[in-house]
Amino acid sequence: MGSFAIRGEHAPLAVRQVVPTRSHANKRYLVLGGAGGAGKAAAELLAAEGAAVVIGDVRAQALNEAIASFGSNAAGQSGVAIDVGNAASIAAAIEEVEQRLGGIDGLVNCAAIVRHVDPLETPWSDWERVFSINVYGAFEAARLVAKGMIAKGIKGAIVNVASEAGKKGHSQSLAYSASKAAMINFTRVLSEVLAPNDINVNCVCPGGMATDMLREVAVAYGDLVKQAPDDVFKQLISSQLRRHIDPAELARTISFLLSDDAMIIRGQAINADGGDTPY
Ligand SMILES: NC(=O)c1ccc[n+]([C@@H]2O[C@H](COP(=O)([O-])OP(=O)(O)OC[C@H]3O[C@@H](n4cnc5c(N)ncnc54)[C@H](O)[C@@H]3O)[C@@H](O)[C@H]2O)c1
Repeated sequence: MGSFAIRGEHAPLAVRQVVPTRSHANKRYLVLGGAGGAGKAAAELLAAEGAAVVIGDVRAQALNEAIASFGSNAAGQSGVAIDVGNAASIAAAIEEVEQRLGGIDGLVNCAAIVRHVDPLETPWSDWERVFSINVYGAFEAARLVAKGMIAKGIKGAIVNVASEAGKKGHSQSLAYSASKAAMINFTRVLSEVLAPNDINVNCVCPGGMATDMLREVAVAYGDLVKQAPDDVFKQLISSQLRRHIDPAELARTISFLLSDDAMIIRGQAINADGGDTPY
């Protein structure tokens, strides 16, 4: 039908500087994909809000750099090497973190990969790799952390970082979109399974966030549609915000969903995409 700006275009809406006010004091969190854009921002905010945070990532050096960037809140925070595409690695890392922290009150499942290809050329190996990290690994981490919470009687929370792609689907990243839809679905089921243990499970569905992943998307997508990566990157913005989402903005939603304030929000897939997804 087209889109007509009857009232004219508006300027990008500024990112608001928010002073952290929520308290996660005495909470122990594991943030997977914590060396990446969104995971690091979430870990940084949670640490500033008083939590003990372990960030897990497959990139060892980036882990140390991420913790160093926490500044005055870096003390007490640490990293753990983990390959979310490997069940044995997930089990070893979670056991290590449970011993280090004495228990895990919250998990943020933020590690993921994306593959871009003409959907009719999607190789079997893309499905395997994308699903092994984004779905099997994310679920396995949630499963093991939940079992640890149950064993210790912890009333915890799990936040799965899905994507608006999991609701809308993108033809150029079909396997990734399907993996995020699967994550939204297992979140729903897990929230029902874990309700008797007072463990809350939700998803957050971001849109275009200024991180390495989106830059990678712009390069791969640009190649498919024959456009310069910078031009593609500039277009991957929220239509209402008229800019990319700042990872620090997503971090606030994650912090909220981990908190007791989110008690009545359960099994949901919350859009945090600057208004692009209407349901
Ligand atoms: N950037 C966006 O526009 C956007 C939009 C929607 C959803 N998301 C989701 O947000 C989350 C964070 O993405 P990001 O934008 O910060 O990307 P990112 O690439 O900066 O971070 C992803 C992190 O996951 C880690 N990772 C990848 N494979 C791993 C593995 N096998 N084991 C452990 N860690 C692994 C990477 O090393 C990286 O640090 C992802 O789940 C992504 O799907 C991002």
